[in-house]
Amino acid sequence: MNLFTKQNEIEKILRDVQRVAEILFQKGWSEKNAGNISVKLPDAIALVSNPKVHPLDKPFPALADTCFYMTGTGKRMQDVAVSATDNGLFIQITPDGHGYIPVKATDQEVRPTSEFPSHLGIHNMIAERGSHETIVMHTHATEIIALTQNPKIKSSEALNKILWGMHPETMVFIPKGAGFVPYILPGTQTIADATIEQFASHDIVVWEKHGIFAIGKDVIDTFDNIDIACKSAKIWFACKSAGFEPEGMTDEQLDELRDLVKKFNS
Ligand code: 13P
Ligand code: ZN
Repeated sequence: MNLFTKQNEIEKILRDVQRVAEILFQKGWSEKNAGNISVKLPDAIALVSNPKVHPLDKPFPALADTCFYMTGTGKRMQDVAVSATDNGLFIQITPDGHGYIPVKATDQEVRPTSEFPSHLGIHNMIAERGSHETIVMHTHATEIIALTQNPKIKSSEALNKILWGMHPETMVFIPKGAGFVPYILPGTQTIADATIEQFASHDIVVWEKHGIFAIGKDVIDTFDNIDIACKSAKIWFACKSAGFEPEGMTDEQLDELRDLVKKFNS
């Protein structure tokens, strides 16, 4: 069944979701149902007659009529890798932004990810600020979670000192760094609000003892940001395991990289 006019474009996005879901599973970052992905689609569905509207806890007028794909709650990432549509669903925000309509792609009953408040809230923040990211991705990236178990790494500043300090490319690709969200119950509006606040000034967001959120313009690019942050964390642990303190980058070296990023983006 073709739900969209831009069916080919959407099928390509869903193939990328499947590809990345497989990588997340193979990396050991998405055990069982861990992690979730949502995509703002470049098309809307002509609304079905008598739609069942689910009210939103928070209205999102900036997302009015927008259509999203998202992974379903409890769905295994390794199954998303096989079929994004069987293990996810499409939703369309109502014209007033106060509710959403689930649109079935298959006969399976699939409910949105439990991190729905964070996913939709982040898409709303992106729409309000007028930037062009379309992907929100969450995974239980082991090395990043391990960092946040360290009592000395409990702030964005402490986290970024490590992430930027281990490899020059981290500053190049994640110049605004990671925002740190102290432990909050997952799936809640409270953790969603804290995450959105951190995304205002950071490229990625780390949830203490839980995982990471990234946003991006395409699925692969979004995954890359998580992968780059994890590479730094891995280097830090490799040095520690070898029994020495990693030197990190000097402030001058980081400033030099910041200037390079500014030049590159201007
Ligand atoms: P869902 O299966 O509801 O997407 O939850 C997975 C998860 O990672 C919660 O933080
Ligand atoms: Zn999670």
